[in-house]
Amino acid sequence: MRKLTLAMVIATLSCGAVAKPVQSNNEAWQSKYPNQYASWAETQETDAVIDLLEENPNLVILWGGYGFMKDYNKARGHQFAVTDVIQTLRTGAPMGDKDGPMPAACWSCKTPDVARLIEEKGEAAYFDPKFGALGHEMSNAIGCNDCHQSGTPKLALSRPYAARAMATIDQPFEQQDRSIKAAQTCGQCHVEYYFDKTNHNAVKFPWDNGLTAEDAEAYFDAIEFADWTHAISKAPMLKAQHPEYETWSTSAHADMGVTCIDCHMPKVTNDQGRKFSKHNVGNTLDNFDAACSSCHDSQSDMAALLKANKAEIKAAQAQAEEVIVRAHFEAGAAWDAGATEAEMKQALTHVRHAQWRWDFAIASHGVHAHNPGEALRLLASAKEIGLQAQVELKKVLDKHGVAQPVALPDISTKAKAQALMGYDREADQAAKDKFVEERVKAQWNTPLK
Ligand code: HEC
Ligand code: HEC
Ligand code: HEC
Ligand code: HEC
Repeated sequence: MRKLTLAMVIATLSCGAVAKPVQSNNEAWQSKYPNQYASWAETQETDAVIDLLEENPNLVILWGGYGFMKDYNKARGHQFAVTDVIQTLRTGAPMGDKDGPMPAACWSCKTPDVARLIEEKGEAAYFDPKFGALGHEMSNAIGCNDCHQSGTPKLALSRPYAARAMATIDQPFEQQDRSIKAAQTCGQCHVEYYFDKTNHNAVKFPWDNGLTAEDAEAYFDAIEFADWTHAISKAPMLKAQHPEYETWSTSAHADMGVTCIDCHMPKVTNDQGRKFSKHNVGNTLDNFDAACSSCHDSQSDMAALLKANKAEIKAAQAQAEEVIVRAHFEAGAAWDAGATEAEMKQALTHVRHAQWRWDFAIASHGVHAHNPGEALRLLASAKEIGLQAQVELKKVLDKHGVAQPVALPDISTKAKAQALMGYDREADQAAKDKFVEERVKAQWNTPLK
């Protein structure tokens, strides 16, 4: 009897120590943490929709045949993540649970409901379905439980695949100091990743060899992974996502222990004189006094420096693009003239590598602030490898008697470039509108912003 009671007491105690279930509803956290909640809600203020394909139609060609040629906007605030993943033409119009084109993994960095589902069902059962099959579960904006243990300020990684990746690079979350733990909460999403077809289409970070673009490239080459086959050049392509954690980790700031949080979530003081972390993450320069002034002198000098960095990166980007776009069309002309796979192999490998490095640099948002030197290094390398592709292609074109230079079509606008790729945007948009009305609004009841 006594023994039994003791066992019951132990059971009760250990039960009490078990973390509470994921609380994905952000509103449930509001009354206990009003300052964090209010500043978190301000991520709604970064609301502009900026069409990057319109700004730079080269992107349509470079991503030819892949989802990104359809639609690609600048990142908005965290509040919009669920809305934007539903609205983008890249996720299509899945009217039924089994319809494509995308897997459930596309929800992974959009909402704490993913943390809840993984906890409830396990990773495999979360990742197995298609994107559309889980829409009715996804309603909460990126929020508290993405980065905290349920109902508490304690930091936690809510995505087990991210926790595994951090262990892979010898930074296991539990063993890090407070500031790296904090940076890793961002690193659950602001990273390069792919969907592992050999494991339920689960998210995996390609970090087995390390965090640089070259490390990931070697990883993908070794497993012969391609995100897609390019529509013009037929090269086996890689798409970089948003490797912010990676490009930050090799920066001067990282060397000094300045992390994402120091700049994007500085401690500020509320009306009662109590300190709290500003949770709006965007508009970093508004934080200059709190976040930068201990090491940098002037906000206006900093704004000018950021502008200059941006311009320099843009110029290097344009140079790399000119070379790689041309290489795609030259490869297309070589295939048209009857080139063989063996003749094309070396050139296409160069195209793959050149574009990967270009993409890694430009897809890393804020790289002009985080690590401009790394962006310039990668873009120079992209151009260099792109030129090597052209050298190889010239041999093939010469062999098949193709007149050179190969003429390039008019790709001066997004519409022209998309038409050239045979993409019917209007039809896709009509299907999307129907999907949003009839499925998202009527069946899922998802609040769109
Ligand atoms: C993207 C990750 C992320 C999200 C989303 C997030 N937090 Fe935080 N939170 C942090 C980090 C990082 C810290 C700073 C920890 C530190 O300095 O040790 C923090 C700190 C806190 C603290 C400790 C006191 C303070 O202000 O430093 C509280 C309480 C808190 N957050 C509540 C919330 C609530 C409530 C929400 C949702 C409305 C939320 N957090 C959303 C990452 C996040
Ligand atoms: C659960 C995934 C996730 C986590 C965790 C996360 N982000 Fe984001 N972040 C996103 C997504 C997705 C977007 C783009 C949303 C959109 O465009 O609809 C974004 C956009 C942003 C933006 C651009 C918009 C703006 O407000 O300026 C910044 C800056 C940003 N995140 C910083 C951070 C920082 C800093 C952290 C860590 C404290 C963090 N994020 C944690 C997924 C995440
Ligand atoms: C030294 C300060 C600093 C550190 C450290 C830092 N950032 Fe930034 N971040 C900035 C600045 C400054 C900008 C650019 C703001 C601008 O130009 O308006 C920026 C831009 C961004 C953007 C793009 C926002 C947009 O509007 O496109 C994202 C996303 C982002 N940072 C995420 C992160 C993440 C994640 C980390 C950590 C892995 C991190 N940052 C580390 C200062 C920092
Ligand atoms: C703990 C000190 C520290 C803090 C805090 C800090 N920085 Fe820095 N930052 C440095 C140092 C040191 C360098 C390197 C200077 C060099 O290499 O000449 C640097 C370099 C930079 C660069 C130049 C990168 C380049 O190569 O052009 C930018 C941009 C920058 N910081 C932005 C910021 C912003 C924005 C903030 C605040 C949001 C910030 N830093 C906060 C120490 C800091």
